[in-house]
Amino acid sequence: MKFNLSFVLLITFIKDIHGEHCEKGWPFPQDFLIGAASAAYQVEGGWNASGKGENNWDWFTHNKPWMIADQSNGDVACDSFHKYKKDVAIMKDIGFDFYRFSISWSRIFPTGFANDISKDGIKYYHDLIHELRSKGLEPFVTIYHWDHPQVLEQMGGWINEMMVDWFTDFSKIVFQEFGPKVKYFVTINEPSSFCYGGYGGTSKAPAWNLPLNAEYLCMHNVLKAHAKAYHMYYEKFRSTQNGIIGIALPCNHYFHKNEEDSITPDIAFQYDCGWMANPIFSKDGDYPKIMRERIDENSRIQGWPRSRLPKFTQTEVEYIRGTSDYFGLNHYTSYIAVPVQKEVNKGWANDRGFYQIVDPKWPVSASSWLRVVPEGFGGILRKITKEYGNTPIYVLENGYSDTGSLNDLDRINYYYSYLKEMLLAIKDGCNVKSYAAWSIMDNYEWTEGYNAHFGLLQVDFNDARRKRTYKNSAHWFKNLLQSRTLLPVQNCTNNN
Ligand SMILES: *[C@@H]1O[C@H](CO)[C@@H](O)[C@H](O)[C@H]1NC(C)=O
Repeated sequence: MKFNLSFVLLITFIKDIHGEHCEKGWPFPQDFLIGAASAAYQVEGGWNASGKGENNWDWFTHNKPWMIADQSNGDVACDSFHKYKKDVAIMKDIGFDFYRFSISWSRIFPTGFANDISKDGIKYYHDLIHELRSKGLEPFVTIYHWDHPQVLEQMGGWINEMMVDWFTDFSKIVFQEFGPKVKYFVTINEPSSFCYGGYGGTSKAPAWNLPLNAEYLCMHNVLKAHAKAYHMYYEKFRSTQNGIIGIALPCNHYFHKNEEDSITPDIAFQYDCGWMANPIFSKDGDYPKIMRERIDENSRIQGWPRSRLPKFTQTEVEYIRGTSDYFGLNHYTSYIAVPVQKEVNKGWANDRGFYQIVDPKWPVSASSWLRVVPEGFGGILRKITKEYGNTPIYVLENGYSDTGSLNDLDRINYYYSYLKEMLLAIKDGCNVKSYAAWSIMDNYEWTEGYNAHFGLLQVDFNDARRKRTYKNSAHWFKNLLQSRTLLPVQNCTNNN
């Protein structure tokens, strides 16, 4: 189904004659960057092409297919390893300013370590970056988006502190090779997602399921690895490459259950977002005080010889604090935070002292964790600004999953209502500089397999050629990028 440009023009025209009945268009600020996002394992395929080594997701999906909703894997995915030129041509046509993609670690280091570098792996990303730049799109490079060589996982993955050095080795090659042509770097994508899901739980590789323990150890190493890569970039590369570098954090917004409860939503924010953000973006650094106090206390009550939340030395606190040029925000949804009382001699349930629920009135998506709550987007942008000051915010992921229709009005409504909240937050003084839609095309959605469709383009996964087809949301974004204005989705004469 083709989106009709004259429909948009008609809206604009009707708006002129019935202005008072219609919502106005919302212009984007000048210099605001709008892009689309993906990740290596979710789109590339070519899992063993050109000497690529096995990574943690290859191993996980091949050896534990029952952990994946449809028992599928990313062996071929969207085949972007072979079809990257097509992808770039599509993004050029839609008119995006940048493409956020990630580098497959085991494509660069097939045996896992820096003594064995794959020329073919490096060439693939040079080709992709060249293709983007020659079409006028900025490459926005995520160094780590959840896939690492399986041999590193065998050695403990993110629980092994050596991961800090291994990640730094990998980052160094990325900066050396691609830094001269890349202005935007993300070190690590969504630490809490893989620390919780992969080490504390079972929703991500390697599904260790060691809750209230392994996720804290994972995050501790991730924060150190991020900081070390950041410092290396500043000491060795920044003066010649002139890029910026940050981290992408997934932060939900939390509402209160009762009017009088102003505390629980803030506690929820600290556990959900502050856990990662406070060490980097706060004035004093380190984990949020509330986490320190409660987890220390719980650990003591439970008889652990030391706190389950590891401690940074003061030197480490200072080394990590301030290591991001922007706040990279991935935001999709919101929750209601409900307090639970502290139990005498038992401490705080789940370390946190709250649980989260949703309002049943919030519209659903194809992903159980994703409800449509646009006002939460404005809420989290204001909260981040309040907590961490004027650091520029780069929205690096936002999007909606459905079951795959080309006529994806729900997705368009999601983007419209979320973008409107973002523009309102900017008007209120939030320093938001960019926005990336997740995702450019339907892809491999981790343990949700191919069931959750987040794409602006549909990909036919039954077709060996992995044919890409525009959904209405892709046409909608094309119009938005031409006008640089957010226009109402509904024909406003119907709203009288
Ligand atoms: C790559 O993996 C496929 C199965 O996904 C297999 O058929 C093929 O032989 C492998 N190629 C190489 C070079 O190992």
